[in-house]
Amino acid sequence: MMNVAYVKMDYLKNPAGLTRMPQLSWVIQSENERECYQRAYQVQLRLMTEGKGIVFDTGKVYSQESAHVFLNDPGLVLEPARKYEIRVRVWTTAGHGEKVSDYSPWEWFITGLTDPAWLTGDFISAETEKDNEKFNATLIRGEFQIQGEIQEAYAYTTALGLYQYELNGHRVGTDELAPGWTSYHKRLCYQTWDIKPYLHPGANVLGAWVGAGWYKGKMGFLGRINNYGKQTAFWAHLVIRYTDGRIQHVCTDSSFKGSDSPVTFSDIYNGETYDARMEQENWCIPGFDDSAWRPVQIVNWDKKTLVSQPGCHVTHMDTVKAKDLLITPEGDTVIDFGQNMAGWVHIRAKGQEGAVFEIQCFEVLDAHGNVYTDNLRGARQTIRYICKDDREFSWHPRFTFQGFRYGKIISLGCDPAQAEITAWAIHSNMEPAGVFSCSNPDLNQLQHNILWSMKSNFIDIPTDCPQRNERVGWTGDAQIFCPTATYLMNTYTFFSKWLLDVAADQTPEGGVPHIVPDLISGHEQNDWLLSQGTHSAAAWGDVAVMNPWTLYMAYGDREILWQQYESMKKWIDFMHTHATDHIWNYRLQFGDWVALDAKPGSYFGATPNDLTCTAYYAHSTEIFSKICRILGKDREAEEYHALYKDILKTFRERFIDENGHMTVRTQTAHIIALYFHLVPEKYRPVVSKDLVHLLQKENGHLVTGFVGTPYFCYALSDNGYVKEAYDLLLKDDFPSWLYQVKMGATTIWEHWDGIRPDGSMWSPDMNSFNHYAYGAVGSWMYHVLAGLSACEDAPGYQQFLVYPRPGGRLNWARTAYNSVYGEISVYWEIKKNMKDKKAPALLVLQIHIPVNTTAKIRLYQCRNIVKTDGIIFNRQLSEPEASVGSGTYEVIYEMKEEVDQ
Ligand code: BGC
Repeated sequence: MMNVAYVKMDYLKNPAGLTRMPQLSWVIQSENERECYQRAYQVQLRLMTEGKGIVFDTGKVYSQESAHVFLNDPGLVLEPARKYEIRVRVWTTAGHGEKVSDYSPWEWFITGLTDPAWLTGDFISAETEKDNEKFNATLIRGEFQIQGEIQEAYAYTTALGLYQYELNGHRVGTDELAPGWTSYHKRLCYQTWDIKPYLHPGANVLGAWVGAGWYKGKMGFLGRINNYGKQTAFWAHLVIRYTDGRIQHVCTDSSFKGSDSPVTFSDIYNGETYDARMEQENWCIPGFDDSAWRPVQIVNWDKKTLVSQPGCHVTHMDTVKAKDLLITPEGDTVIDFGQNMAGWVHIRAKGQEGAVFEIQCFEVLDAHGNVYTDNLRGARQTIRYICKDDREFSWHPRFTFQGFRYGKIISLGCDPAQAEITAWAIHSNMEPAGVFSCSNPDLNQLQHNILWSMKSNFIDIPTDCPQRNERVGWTGDAQIFCPTATYLMNTYTFFSKWLLDVAADQTPEGGVPHIVPDLISGHEQNDWLLSQGTHSAAAWGDVAVMNPWTLYMAYGDREILWQQYESMKKWIDFMHTHATDHIWNYRLQFGDWVALDAKPGSYFGATPNDLTCTAYYAHSTEIFSKICRILGKDREAEEYHALYKDILKTFRERFIDENGHMTVRTQTAHIIALYFHLVPEKYRPVVSKDLVHLLQKENGHLVTGFVGTPYFCYALSDNGYVKEAYDLLLKDDFPSWLYQVKMGATTIWEHWDGIRPDGSMWSPDMNSFNHYAYGAVGSWMYHVLAGLSACEDAPGYQQFLVYPRPGGRLNWARTAYNSVYGEISVYWEIKKNMKDKKAPALLVLQIHIPVNTTAKIRLYQCRNIVKTDGIIFNRQLSEPEASVGSGTYEVIYEMKEEVDQ
């Protein structure tokens, strides 16, 4: 049986708000068939309504491509505000002959406001000038008539601030913290939902809650308010199509009215207060008497900024039950949810009129088991609910989120037995991609912690941390974590959206801000750090080139390279302009941020900026020249390749001596020189040996920061030191990844010594316990330990490498990865001969390769292949290799003794 399992559009199932024909991909499944490839496909498109006739049919197209398929037909123009359906069938070949599949089930998508003339409607506000510095949420309502039978109806909505909306008292959609955070004055996302189910003949009400959020609330460590404007506002455009062909547009305008809401305070960092006594029953039902409501004000806003949100809406994703209720030595009552996360505490309880429920969220207990909130800095993280009567309520905040594992109960307005308090984790809704497990439970916990730090910090933008008064899109953090993130979840949509803001916020000269969306440029005067420069730091600014490249490798999609081309080019040119004799360094550099070889009290690691900057300059330029080649820009490819060669030459002259040693004796200098291939081939053994010595000097511990840490294990394992890479990964005393695990961490810490062995803490001014940056080691565990990685020749896992390098006394490891072509799995297990201790251990390798992909298999430390399962290996190589198409295979080989079993 061969079939098309599912079709995705722009990486998503059933996307809404598309403004162009989506890119298509589909997954073909074929049981018991090996080496199966697609030969041809056929795509059909129909409008959901109007007799469901086919509006477009590709016919049989001979093509092997089952991902990144565009229907490029000038006749195919999508109508705005429509639901289309699509289906696919394929012809495949496995050996001889051709087979055809059935059509896949129809999958729908909804179009956005493709016609600019439809971007009408006013941004309306229930706030007035006197509310400029107030952070309560407001309500907005307006009535409209439905006259006739509805065929289809969609709402396009957004806000200056954060919003939720209702139709006739029913909340529409599952979006949280919409419209997300973009560089609002350049790009403001609208959300699209099918609203037909909420409408009825006669009078209907559209109502919205609007809060301050990132737009107007206090944001950034500079503590500024009104970063984008002083007045929140709501915008909506409903498109209602009747069966008789009429189209009705309902748009926000001055006929709407506004009021205060029960949300009397709401702020991203500080939390939210909800006073249920201010609820107005039936305010979103037709006929409600809104005579006491005030007229809305119209806020001027350029509608050209409106763009459709591409997907990955922030959503409530997990519910975590309380694990424990503690009374601390200081007498506080604390709920322990057992997992650090970002989201809300949800309360279901019964109180009395005026009873108060108040909880402060925080991450860790101190050495004595007391509540520790110092590391939250200015963020109060406190939520408050005031009851209006003795009926049961179910509540969590709307326009804020907290980073927490614990909740300190400041006030519980009822008997504890009558309250059900849970934790709701929220994050951008991305499809899970990779799973990882192995025989070492501590490594499994480390992966768990990495995943939860990702969940906690992928809240519409990639943030550094979710708890203190920061939570901003630090570019360096997002750059170093991106490869790991793409193993864990499908990040294409998430990152490609954010990269548009990276491009939008670049300086005219091409400099890349330290945080995106950029809140700090122009406001840095009073900050000790930022006064030295608010953009363009090595490893941070390189996000502009490295993240598109990482996405291209993981998804094989040139679109991201086209989309970011100008931004990438500008960044390289910026470095070029500011380099002197190919050594690049510029104003404020974070260097090997928070490395342990920093001077006491400093955040800046010991590796000099000239080295880190020039290494990144070389690496990004090399990648960019490859990108130019991929995009067919051969002239630019040559030009930037020549530039890369010049930078490389300078780097070598300056940082590698005549005997092949690095002139800078830090771990990080060696790591990036090796990992970025800046060391001449003949000196790689020297530099890698030196790195091992530097590691031994620290008793096997890393002292690296943001720049060196992500690549430490790679720099070792790629240069013959697999055992040393495992030793490093498995260290569990301070400083190490597993030290945190042993200390009970459930997410990744910002500092190696966030909590020291004696229980004391790193300075509260920068001590997050939920910072994914050091979780960047996660990619090594997938790539080297489990042995799965994408290949540059045919990226997106169209071709992939299966090359597990067992070690670290692990008995087995397993990974499964949901690629654009379907699920890949790799499992290895070491089988020792219990009867004959001298007999070589066997490595059993089981692989599943999806249809239309090819795996390159390489056997690490293989002495003799025992079972090939039909795969033809090149045994001439020191490590036998084979290339093989789809199917499930088992290979068994005898291992050399060198492996650390
Ligand atoms: C953030 C980091 C960030 C750094 C750069 C910190 O405050 O939390 O993760 O990259 O600043 O200076």
